[in-house]
Parts: sequence; structure tokens; C-alpha cells
Amino acid sequence: HSHLLGLSSLKPWEMVFLMDEAEQWVTRNRSAEKHDHRLSGLTQINAFFENSTRTLLSFEIAGKRLGADVVNLGVAGSSVKKGETLLDTALTLNAMHPDVIVIRHGSSGAVQLIAEKVDCPVLNAGDGRHEHPTQALLDALTIRRRKGRIAGLTVAICGDILHSRVARSNFQILASLGASVRVVAPPTLLPANVEQLGVEVFTDMDAGLRGADVVMMLRLQTERMDGAYVPSTREYFRFFGLTEARLRNAAPDVLVMHPGPMNRGVEIESSIADDIVRSAVTEQVEMGVAVRMACLDVLTRKRRGVDFSSPLP
Ligand code: CP
Repeated sequence: HSHLLGLSSLKPWEMVFLMDEAEQWVTRNRSAEKHDHRLSGLTQINAFFENSTRTLLSFEIAGKRLGADVVNLGVAGSSVKKGETLLDTALTLNAMHPDVIVIRHGSSGAVQLIAEKVDCPVLNAGDGRHEHPTQALLDALTIRRRKGRIAGLTVAICGDILHSRVARSNFQILASLGASVRVVAPPTLLPANVEQLGVEVFTDMDAGLRGADVVMMLRLQTERMDGAYVPSTREYFRFFGLTEARLRNAAPDVLVMHPGPMNRGVEIESSIADDIVRSAVTEQVEMGVAVRMACLDVLTRKRRGVDFSSPLP
């Protein structure tokens, strides 16, 4: 089966292919006639074992706009709470003959484990600190539309890199498409092997932002910090919050991004978040629906007997 578990296994042209496919859905989603019926008769299960607003809703809207029968399983209402194992949950979902499963899970690698047990394509909607491939695809699409290119840009990804699957997927796509990637974070929120990730490392915000074309802010992921040192929000904002003064270090036409959910006054000042010229936050959400429509379409092509099968591995 074609799965989308992460971007590390995709070739650059495969990432570009998915972004190109998404463009048609951006146009379509802005029109009065949003519906397409290519996934008609197919069952899409969104199994989310972690909270979500953007990813869950956009996968649901994406599936419905393509004509699929979409059902959602949230952890609060699932039998995981009664002690069912992940593998038993996977076999249970599989027994209902879904045609595509979208999974978010708190453990890195959990989505891969489920993909090995089911008979349909699986899309990773975020697994632990591992990957969030559709987020990085929508981020890259947003950058490409705003800046006209990705190659040659300097992108500073700032904040809690250690716990961020968004950062890991963005390293893959941005480096593959020719951007220079910086990470800017306190040493306690950098992964041990950060130098091996092909990024330039900064622990000072002003230095890390200097001349940056794109600044991507990340949330402190306290839910993944289990007992480790958590900075106070006031201290964090003082040294790593994106303020108007700090942003003046970046390129004059800098694009500010945030995958959401944002914590205003912690990692980003409200006036920047709300500035529609500099900030692409709501545009990222819009691109999310289009990218997820593209991924659902492409990954189910083999199953639907479409002539050209998915190019994904
Ligand atoms: N960016 C993102 O994954 O947001 P949600 O957690 O709301 O899905």
C-alpha cells in the first residue's frame, strides 16, 4: 500500500508533486462548487489519539469535499481508555474495511506500527516527536505561494525543536527543496544530534533571525516534556518570544509562520500573529485542506484503479 508516514522516505520530486496537486484544490476550495466525487464510496477513518483542531478538521473537510464517507475516532471516546492495545485497535479499524486511515498518535512510530497491520493506505497526522508530513507540505506550499520559490531562502525555525514533529518534517522538505534551514532555541530544547540534521544552530534569537526570509515559530510542547525542565512563560518570552523589535533583524519582507495552536505572549507577540501582511498563519490553515485533499486523492489512486498509481513508495 501507499502510505504517507513521513517525508524522510520521499524524493524531492514526490514532495513537489503533492504540492502541485494541492494547487488545484486551493482554487477549488475558494469557489462556490467545492465538491468533487472521486472518493465516492470510499471510507476514510480519522483516528486521533491526541488532541487536534486544524489537522482533524481539515482531514475531515478534505475527505468530505472529495466525496468520501468520513468517520472520526477520538481518544476520549475510544476504547483505548479501557485498556485496548494499539495493535488491537488497528485490527479493529481494519476489520471495518476502511479505504484510508488517518492517524495521530502521541508515540513516535505508532503510525508505522498500525500501517504494517492494516490493508489500506495510512496517512500520518502527527506521531509523537517523529513526523507531521502534511503539516510540512502545507508549510512548503504556503512559502512557495508567498515567496514564489523555496530554493535559496533562509528559514529560521524557532522554539521547542526538541519535541517538534513539525520541525522534523520541515527539515526534510525545506532542505530537499534547497532552502537553508536554521534552528533557534535554548540549548535545553534542542535535540542531542541537532548538528547531524543539516541545520544551522543558534541559541540567540537576534542572531538566528538575522536576514531570515521566513520565521517559523513553534509552541512549547509541555505535554511532551514529562518532568523535564519547563521554562516559565515569562522567561521564555523574554529570550525567545517573537517581538516586533526582534523581527527587525529579519529580512524586510519576512514571512512569519506558525503551525498552531499559538500561545500568544509566550512564543509570539499578538501584533505579529495578527498582521496579515507578514503573518501566514491563517493561510497555512487554508493550504492544509488543499494539501490533505491532494494526499487523500493520490494515496487512494491505486485502490480506485486510476490509471497512474501513486508515485509514493
Ligand atoms: N498544526 C497542527 O497540527 O494543529 P492541530 O494540533 O490543531 O491539528
